[in-house]
Amino acid sequence: MIILKLGGSALTIKDADKPTIDDVNLDRIATEVASYNQDMIIVHGAGSFGHIHARKYAIGDRILGDDDKSNKTMGLCLTQASVQLLNYKVISKLHEKNIPAVGIKPSTFIVNKDKRIDECDTNLIRKYLDDGFVPVLYGDAVLDKNDEIRYSILSGDQIITYLAKKLNTDRVILSSDVDGIYTDNPKTNPDAKLIDIVTKDTPLTTTSNDNQADVTGGMAGKIRELLELAEYGIESQIINAEKEGNIKLAVSGRQVKGTIIK
Ligand code: IPE
Repeated sequence: MIILKLGGSALTIKDADKPTIDDVNLDRIATEVASYNQDMIIVHGAGSFGHIHARKYAIGDRILGDDDKSNKTMGLCLTQASVQLLNYKVISKLHEKNIPAVGIKPSTFIVNKDKRIDECDTNLIRKYLDDGFVPVLYGDAVLDKNDEIRYSILSGDQIITYLAKKLNTDRVILSSDVDGIYTDNPKTNPDAKLIDIVTKDTPLTTTSNDNQADVTGGMAGKIRELLELAEYGIESQIINAEKEGNIKLAVSGRQVKGTIIK
């Protein structure tokens, strides 16, 4: 079984000032995913469908009083609805390509504690997989057992790490809008070099490729999740979803330019 993360930055226009889908990319990515016909879970990011609301309502920050509580409560509803709409668009596109994609809303069965997954029953996902479906989950806004914050953001990257450990996963592929992990931010530093293999001993500047529009830690957040997975014995790969053919090559197990985390 493989787990494929489709980064919000590849599916949406992440820096837009309102939720905006990248139709061309979504269509192409869905076609590439359709080339794979074995067990797979897809987890997609939120892009502009999630980060704008999450930032506006400061979901995950300490609640400062009754007004702030009401505001964040509404913010949670709006964030969830927005990312669910993106999920609907993603699964509809996958259906067009004949992929039996079933959308599964993380906030209906996952509860965080201090911003990390605390409760998550994976039985239903297992059942869909066993029956030949492709479960499609996504970064969401969820309840949090920490009373000071009450709600927090659950990144797709954290969902991947959790599911990969629980569900006997062979490979994890994480696609984004850059080729992999660089020595510095490739969008601002032309001398930044791609690193082929990252382990827990690789020295990294934590600001490499950080994105202001991202409330879940940008590339630094992804590296943290994937190193945790590596410690558990599961190798993962970061690739660029914006380069045509990359997802198709990666899902079929062929070599793609990117970074392996092990
Ligand atoms: C973020 O999920 C979820 C919300 C902001 C609600 P991700 O962190 O997985 O999304 P991307 O891939 O960075 O857009």
